[in-house]
Amino acid sequence: MRPADLMRRTAFRTALGVTVFVLTALVLASTIGYTLLRSQLVARQDARVTELFIALLETARSADQTDLIEAVTTRISASADRSTVYLLRGPDGRVLAANVPDRWFQPGWSSVEAATLNIPTDYPYRIFAGTAGKYSIVVGLTNADLDDLAEISQSAFGWSALGVLIAASLVGAFIATRIQARINEVEAVLHRVALGDLTARLTVSRGGSDLDQISLAINHALARLGSLVEAMRQVSADIAHDLRSPLNRLRIRIEAASEAAGQPADLTAALAEIDALGQTFAALLRIAQIEAGTPREKFAPVNLSAVMQAVAEVYADVAEDAGMTLTCKTSGPAFIQGDTSLLTQAFANLIENAIRHCPPGTILTCGVETEGDHVTAVVSDTGPGIPEAERENVLRRLYRLEKSRTTQGSGLGLALVKAVAEAHDATLSLNDAQPGLRVSLRFALTVHAG
Ligand SMILES: Nc1ncnc2c1ncn2[C@@H]1O[C@H](COP(=O)(O)OP(=O)(O)OP(=O)(O)O)[C@@H](O)[C@H]1O
Ligand SMILES: [Mg+2]
Repeated sequence: MRPADLMRRTAFRTALGVTVFVLTALVLASTIGYTLLRSQLVARQDARVTELFIALLETARSADQTDLIEAVTTRISASADRSTVYLLRGPDGRVLAANVPDRWFQPGWSSVEAATLNIPTDYPYRIFAGTAGKYSIVVGLTNADLDDLAEISQSAFGWSALGVLIAASLVGAFIATRIQARINEVEAVLHRVALGDLTARLTVSRGGSDLDQISLAINHALARLGSLVEAMRQVSADIAHDLRSPLNRLRIRIEAASEAAGQPADLTAALAEIDALGQTFAALLRIAQIEAGTPREKFAPVNLSAVMQAVAEVYADVAEDAGMTLTCKTSGPAFIQGDTSLLTQAFANLIENAIRHCPPGTILTCGVETEGDHVTAVVSDTGPGIPEAERENVLRRLYRLEKSRTTQGSGLGLALVKAVAEAHDATLSLNDAQPGLRVSLRFALTVHAG
């Protein structure tokens, strides 16, 4: 499946959305947590520096210079790793005690790189510089803990994000696959229904989920639809079927009467009418049978080009007698899964229509064109055509254009073509051939014959 197709799948989009949401929530939560923790630690560090500074300030106030130097020196020796730094300046600006080089420090709070203090670490120092009477005191603490925390947080976040991403993707993929499977099943069942198989049903699991409820409702609707359609189909088939026997008996009686009376014109015409009626019933029954569903298992590879050529050959003379030319263009074999006799009947109806409904001099063209994985069978003429507004109507049973009412026929030819097209999952289109009518049937090409 292409990525664009995947993105159109609701289940996949939902899974992706959930994963993105979970990741975003994780990033937000981590950022907030880290910021809060860091600000707490900064506050604690500042409090510790302040505490150290105040202790020295007290000493400066209460003791003499020697004691103050002593106090700073003691603290310096307690911080051998120089994680705490001190600098004590006397009233004359001279350094009295320090574990950092003599340099200027910005009064108040500042952050100073370890390198400028000659300390070989990467962590900066948090420094407070202030005056205590005539002395000036600098106290600083390394940021090592803070920076370590940042590093630990980042790697913790990285790993947990990876974990969440994998877990969310797996769960998402699992859920998406399950939902997709059910959507695919609904699609497949509805496709079968669209092809006329009203016995198709969705599977309903015992869980009784909302999807099961929908499946149940669809199955129920299909069952109801199936029985209604079956009842209607049965009624029309029964009418067509049951009227055939009385019609036959009527024909026999009129034939006998006509022969006895020396075949008067009226009775011959009545016989012709009865024959036309018989053909109409036969055609109605045939359409009902096709719609009832030609079992697809019986479909076999059919070479559309060969079928079209054969039909065109049969009608070549008829067309010529009607003062028309019929040419058939096919470009090599084109195989589809289908029923040869139904396809022959459909193509014959189309060519017959062109011969019947077009004036002499009309040019009839039929052909089979392969394009990608589809094959289109076309019958077109240069006759009067069918107005666009009527193109849907003529596909209905017994519908004929006003001007054709005087011609032979019962308005069932195109209805049969439509039934054959549907049975083959083909697209039937009626178009303007400018001038004339172009009827095309587009099938899925199943087998490429080399
Ligand atoms: N090639 C065509 N050119 C012009 N009009 C057409 C053409 N084919 C069909 N029609 C119109 O469409 C109507 C329906 O066609 P359809 O084949 O269903 O019935 P029919 O040809 O009248 O009768 P039947 O095919 O049952 O003998 C026709 O009556 C005619 O008015
Ligand atoms: Mg016809």
